[in-house]
Amino acid sequence: MSNGADILRMLKKQQIESALARAGAAAASKGPKEHKFWDTQPMKKPGEEPEEPGEIETKTIDDVKPEPYNMPPGFEWCHVDVMDAAEAEEVYTLLSENYVEDDDNMFRFDYSKEFLRWALTPPGYSAELHVGVRSSKGKLMGLITAVPTQMRVMGSSIKTVEINFLCVHKKLRAKRLAPVLIKEITRRVNRMGVWQAVYTAGVVLPTPLACCRYYHRSLNPKKLIEVGFSRLANRMTMARTMKLYKLPDNTNSANVSAMQPEDVPSAHALLSKYLEQFKLAPQLSEEEFAHWLLPREGVVDCFVVKDRNGKVTDMCSFYHLPSTVIGHAKHRTLNAAYSFYNVATTVTMTELMRDSLVLARNLGMDVFNALNLMQNQEFLQTLKFGIGDGHLQYYLFNWRCKEITPQEVGLVLL
Ligand SMILES: CC(C)(COP(=O)(O)OP(=O)(O)OC[C@H]1O[C@@H](n2cnc3c(N)ncnc32)[C@H](O)[C@@H]1OP(=O)(O)O)[C@@H](O)C(=O)NCCC(=O)NCCS
Repeated sequence: MSNGADILRMLKKQQIESALARAGAAAASKGPKEHKFWDTQPMKKPGEEPEEPGEIETKTIDDVKPEPYNMPPGFEWCHVDVMDAAEAEEVYTLLSENYVEDDDNMFRFDYSKEFLRWALTPPGYSAELHVGVRSSKGKLMGLITAVPTQMRVMGSSIKTVEINFLCVHKKLRAKRLAPVLIKEITRRVNRMGVWQAVYTAGVVLPTPLACCRYYHRSLNPKKLIEVGFSRLANRMTMARTMKLYKLPDNTNSANVSAMQPEDVPSAHALLSKYLEQFKLAPQLSEEEFAHWLLPREGVVDCFVVKDRNGKVTDMCSFYHLPSTVIGHAKHRTLNAAYSFYNVATTVTMTELMRDSLVLARNLGMDVFNALNLMQNQEFLQTLKFGIGDGHLQYYLFNWRCKEITPQEVGLVLL
């Protein structure tokens, strides 16, 4: 039998559902949202479901102008060298003060300098593709970066770049600077003979290749509640919440260890084979694998399990991306681990990931985040991940193909 509160909840649900239906109908009658810039780019049109995948616009290097796009007066292009201490500091400052915030402006990504170096200098990188905008006083006011990756997209192997760290200083927002940054990096990448790019964004633009969702696993629920990242559930006390999320002190697998350089060939073979099943996945060389997965303190961790012959049979990895807790009296930083690449062959994916949670907790992480891509769906519920409100769209520039499901995505960007 329903009590008063249940009826109230039901009424509320009905009201929400009919409001959503009205909003959906209104949006549908207006048609797809207009995008002054993105509608001019070689992107799949909304609703288009191409039979044959392929390039949208075919050009040669001679079709690409050699000189940069014009900057508004008072600004100029530069490239940043993150291997230089002073320039790395400038990039860090721009991003830590102006990069992605959540919808309620409570948290802002705080990529460390060491992380930025790692993210921007894989084998074959070019500092020319770490594009900045400086004011007349020389201050770094904008950024966009690209790094090379060979990508397999539904059976085709494509030379691509991964685009990241698009950022415009808060003082220069809504002045159409972002499209200029995107056009300039496209020009520079095209001049190197590369015509496709992958990128992710929280916003919906024409037109996502896949739409993934973030899930969060509390490791330090007390702190997460204190900073407002999560809320105490109905009828739960702090003590019960802490008990609910308590993890074992040690990993279940006794012989899990940090990946070492000598494990690279075996672990690389394991991951490469694993990634073949996904429709979108990077094709990493051994050298690239070593760059992306060998542990770097406070940046990326990778743990392996080996058989008697030293062959890697299982691996789990996560990267460290803290967020600044904006304007909080007690806590300055939220320490988050982000699931990276995981392969399980001697244990289940859930068992492997439970160990990964323990390892992340032991390294001081407050929360473990994972997208619902690859095989992640398998463990999210059992391991007590909660759905977040963040969506992450995957995009492929200048390549038309059908939309894919999160489970068909085998790529994690930083
Ligand atoms: C994202 C950001 C650079 C956009 O700059 P802005 O000053 O807000 O917007 P501008 O007036 O320069 O440009 C607007 C255009 O950029 C597009 N745009 C906005 N965010 C974008 C994104 N993340 N990726 C690609 N294009 C984006 C808009 O859709 C719009 O194009 P449209 O008219 O075709 O739709 C800026 O808001 C920012 O630095 N935000 C914080 C960091 C961030 O969110 N970075 C993106 C991470 S994915």
